[in-house]
Formats: sequence, structure tokens, C-alpha cells
Amino acid sequence: MRLETNPIRVWSYVVIVSLLSDSNALFKFKNIKCTCYEKSFCELKRCELKVVGRGIVGLYLHAQTYQLPIKSTTCILSLYRRFNGYRPFLYNVTVDICSFLKNRKRYPFFDLVYDGIRDFTNVNHSCPFNHDIIVHRMVLNDNMIVRVPVPSGFYKLMFVLKTDGIWRGEVEVHVEVNLGYDR
Ligand SMILES: *[C@@H]1O[C@H](CO)[C@@H](O)[C@H](O)[C@H]1NC(C)=O
Ligand SMILES: *[C@@H]1O[C@H](CO)[C@@H](O)[C@H](O)[C@H]1NC(C)=O
Repeated sequence: MRLETNPIRVWSYVVIVSLLSDSNALFKFKNIKCTCYEKSFCELKRCELKVVGRGIVGLYLHAQTYQLPIKSTTCILSLYRRFNGYRPFLYNVTVDICSFLKNRKRYPFFDLVYDGIRDFTNVNHSCPFNHDIIVHRMVLNDNMIVRVPVPSGFYKLMFVLKTDGIWRGEVEVHVEVNLGYDR
């Protein structure tokens, strides 16, 4: 899902981390990009990957939000795989976050992703949300990828968020899966 937005009003930035070569993890963050479409709704205080230990990369995100509380929100989560450019791959789910948080089993792929994030975010309780959205020092571990049936390659996870019927922003996370074998 791409949105037509006026580029001048979009406030976003990109951080690329490419110094992870000494890591032999199966599953690595490569880069992150966050965008708030409207400054009156949210602003990004932080959106970056940072090396937090040898071969370990942490993801940090802090979106300050100005129209609280958030009582309902929808997220489109799509997976892309890089071939010649990124192409949609396997998953594209539209999730009502508040009902997901009540019953996670309805959205198995989203649940897998959420399971990886939940210990690192303050968005891990039931609705409403009355605070900024923070992900603090999220790290990947190889067990996460074991449960997702994807081959080695470069992937992009795209989260696009809507509240009150308005698209608010997006987060793009690029990861590398390197299993060392094909499956
Ligand atoms: C994912 O689904 C949404 C909603 O049905 C659609 O608007 C969007 O274009 C789809 N994205 C991809 C990458 O297929
Ligand atoms: C929510 O995240 C906090 C840390 O930010 C963690 O201590 C807590 O266990 C998490 N709660 C759930 C339900 O995952």
C-alpha cells in the first residue's frame, strides 16, 4: 500500500547500518525508515538501528503522538522480498490492532511479528493507547526466523498505520535472512 503524500510535508529519515559483517546471525536488521505523514499527528523523535554489542543491532523507534488517546487503529503489514527491487511476498495482512490484542490467534503472521516486538515496546497492552509509541533496543534472535517459512534473502517488512480512518505513517524495516542452506 503506497500513499500519495505531499513530499514537503512528510518528515522522515533513513538510517542505514552496513557494518554488521562480523555477525553470523541468521537474521539481521539492515535498515529502517519511518515516516509520519502529518506533523500535527505524530513526529519521529527516533528511528534508527544502532550497534549495541558485537554483531548485535538494536532497533529504536519513538513516535511522539499528539492526538491521544488512540482508541482504534489498523495496521497493514506486508512482506516484500528483494529480487529486482522489492516484490510482495507471501504475507499482506490488514489487522485491527485492538481486536488483535484481545485475540492474537486470528492473525498468525502478525502474531509472529508481534511476538518478536512485544518485549521491547510500550504498545503491548490492550487499547486505548494514551502515550507515545516506543520500541526500545529491539534485537532479533535466530529463534524468530525458525518459525517463519521463508528462504534466505533480503526482505522488507512494511507497517502502515491508520487511526480514525486516516493513514498516519509507516515504518519500513529491512532484514536479511541467511540460513546458510536452502529450504
Ligand atoms: C495489501 O493489502 C492492502 C489492503 O487490501 C492493499 O491495499 C495493498 O495494496 C496490498 N499490498 C501489497 C503489497 O500487496
Ligand atoms: C511489555 O513490555 C514491557 C517492556 O517494555 C515488558 O516488561 C512487559 O513484560 C511487556 N508485556 C507484555 C504483555 O508482553
